Amino acid sequence: MSLNIPIRLRRLRATAGIRAMLGESDVAPRHLIQPLFVTEGTTPEPIASLPGQSRIPLQDLGKKCAELNALGIHGVALFPKVESGKTAEGAEALNPNALLYRAIRAVKEASPETVIFADVALDPYTTHGHDGVLTADGSDVDNDRTVATLAKMSVLCAQAGADFVAPSDMMDGRVAAIRAALDTAGHTETGILAYSAKYASAFYGPFRDAVGSARKPGEQAISKSTYQMDPANRREAVREALLDAAEGADLLMVKPAGAYLDIIRDVANATDIPLAAYQVSGEYAMLHAAAERGWIDLRTARNESLLAIRRAGADLILTYFAEAVAREAGN
Ligand code: PBG
Repeated sequence: MSLNIPIRLRRLRATAGIRAMLGESDVAPRHLIQPLFVTEGTTPEPIASLPGQSRIPLQDLGKKCAELNALGIHGVALFPKVESGKTAEGAEALNPNALLYRAIRAVKEASPETVIFADVALDPYTTHGHDGVLTADGSDVDNDRTVATLAKMSVLCAQAGADFVAPSDMMDGRVAAIRAALDTAGHTETGILAYSAKYASAFYGPFRDAVGSARKPGEQAISKSTYQMDPANRREAVREALLDAAEGADLLMVKPAGAYLDIIRDVANATDIPLAAYQVSGEYAMLHAAAERGWIDLRTARNESLLAIRRAGADLILTYFAEAVAREAGN
């Protein structure tokens, strides 16, 4: 017995071949950027809250990036774990021999084709863990003084060989200041990936362990709510994105990704600038934790989460899964 249903959408899902031909979105290694943590140490340091991820010794970093590039992961986002010399002002960020700049040089030397996104923010360098320097009374991050430092940092990144600087700080006016500083220093070809809509999120915990900006057990987690966005807000994300576009950003970003798919779609619709989304450390850690308990299948949940981010409108995805996805794609 059959019902009178002339339009049956299941016809378009009937075989693997049909489904493969009609898939509207896909995830390929070329869409993925691998975040990499760098250490001064000489052996890889596994990060407990990011299973499968380690801080990579400087001397191994170039080789790692060359391997990733061969796998089709062309982009890496570099984050230093600074061991010593942290101060309230984060002065180490302006030392031309700071770990980040040495890391950029090492990657460019060993793997010149790798596209380097250099993180520009002060949290790896400050004792308090904020992304900028504080106001005189210490009650907040000082926007304009921070912007001046970020602009100088960006020039150091460009001098070291970064393809893109990636300000992750959420200060007002930093994209314009960075663009001006880069151009004045002759780095007209260095691009800016702006963390445009970065939310004050609880999903950054494992990252803060990885770069050592986390509070010690018992200490209160710091709040970045005076500069990172309120998770309640949607229209404001589009304002942020359009401002960064007007200030000269080459690429925009929404962060986190999984809980902010609506924001990714809004920003993708609002501008023609290529858009990245950051599947952050907490998203990665949650998938691993559930899979370890046997509650979800890691591989399929991972692929679904990345596909959803692409479907929402992201051209590029920063994800700790990049290497694993590329290794499977090659098989
Ligand atoms: C800080 C920065 C953070 C992340 C990237 N850059 C954390 C924060 O804002 O506290 C988070 C990335 C992740 O969780 O994977 N400049």
